[in-house]
Amino acid sequence: AAIEKGNYRHFMQKEIFEQPVVVAQTLRSYLRRVEQTVALPQIDFDLASINRVTIVACGTSFYAAMVAKYWFEQFARLPVDIDVASEFRYRDPVLEEGGLSLFISQSGETADTLAALRHCKAAGQTIAVVVNVPTSTMAREADLLLPTHAGPEIGVASTKAFTCQLAVLAALAAHLAVKRGRMNRAEEAAIVEHLVEVPAALNAALAHDEEIAAMAHLIAPARDVLYLGRGADYPLALEGALKLKEISYIHAEGYASGEMKHGPIALIDELVPVIVLAPSGPLFEKTVSNMQEVRARGGKVVLISDAEGIAEAGEGCLATIEMPKVHPLIAPLVYAVPVQLLAYHVAVAKGTDVDQPRNLAKSVTVE
Ligand code: G6P
Repeated sequence: AAIEKGNYRHFMQKEIFEQPVVVAQTLRSYLRRVEQTVALPQIDFDLASINRVTIVACGTSFYAAMVAKYWFEQFARLPVDIDVASEFRYRDPVLEEGGLSLFISQSGETADTLAALRHCKAAGQTIAVVVNVPTSTMAREADLLLPTHAGPEIGVASTKAFTCQLAVLAALAAHLAVKRGRMNRAEEAAIVEHLVEVPAALNAALAHDEEIAAMAHLIAPARDVLYLGRGADYPLALEGALKLKEISYIHAEGYASGEMKHGPIALIDELVPVIVLAPSGPLFEKTVSNMQEVRARGGKVVLISDAEGIAEAGEGCLATIEMPKVHPLIAPLVYAVPVQLLAYHVAVAKGTDVDQPRNLAKSVTVE
C-alpha cells in the first residue's frame, strides 16, 4: 500500500512524530522486558572474542556511529574506530584478525558504505550491519544482521531511522559489555530500564513542537547557525547542523563545545544563533561555561537541557527548551527530537521543499 502523509504536512514531520512508536518497536526485538536483559538475534560466532570494532557509515548514519563509539568504549571497554565510508578504504585501514566491522545504513544500499563492507569482508573481518531495509544488499552480505524497525522512511533527511539506529546500538553496547564481563546483571537490568523509558521521553520532547515552531522564525533569517555539544551529544550537534543545512539551506556547523574557542568563536556576533545541547550530568557545567563565552560575545543562544538550573542558566538566552530528565545514556536519542524539529520548522518557515531538498538523494548509490 502507498505510504500516506495522513494529517501531516510533510513525510519528514510524520516520521519525526512516529519516533516513539518505531523506537519502541525496534527496542522490543532487542530487549527482554521480563528478564531485564538485552538479546540479539542468533549468531554463530562469539562476540566475546572481538577485540576491536570498526564502524563505517555515511551522513546521518555516520553520526549514529559516532555516538556508538562513546557507548562501546564506555560500557564494553572495546576500542572503536569510526570512518565516513568515502574515506575508509582509501586510508588503507589496519584490520586485524578478531575485528568486527559494523556498517550502519538506513537503506542498506549506499555505495560507499557497501564498498567498505566488501573491503572488510575481503580482509577477513566479521561483518555486522544495522540496516532499516532487511532485504537490502548490506543485509544479505552480513554475518550479523541487526535490523531497525523504523518502517519506510520517505523524507530525504533521515530522522526516525537515526533514533532507531541509536536504539539498536545502545542495546548492542550493553550486550557487548555483558559478553566481555564488563557489566553485571544489575547493571544490565538498569540499562534495559533506561531504554524502556525512551519512547515516553521522545513523546515528552515532541511536546515542544509548537514552542520550537515559534522559535524557528527567529532562526530562519540567520545566515549561519552553530550547534554545540559534548561527549555522546557532540554527534547530535553535528546531526543538528546537518539537518538544518540539508533542508533549510542555512549554513550550519556542529562543534564540540570545548573546541569552539579554537576557531568558531571568531564567528560569533549578534547575528549568529548558537544551539547548545546541554544534558545534565558531569559535563553540564563545562558546557554552560562555553555558552557564557558565546553570550559574552553577543551570540544568541538556544539552550536545550534537562538540568535543574535551566531557567537560571538560560537567563538572557534567545530561548530555552526543557527536555525530559533522562539518564545520560539515552540523552542522544531524546535530543535528536528538538534538533530535528528545529530544522523542520526553519525549513517550513523558509518555504523550502522539506521532503525533497535540492541536490540531495534519499539513497546514494554512486561513489
Ligand atoms: C543520503 C541521505 C541521508 C543519509 C545518507 C546515508 O545522503 O540524504 O539522509 O543519512 O544518505 O544513507 P544510508 O541509507 O546509508 O543511511
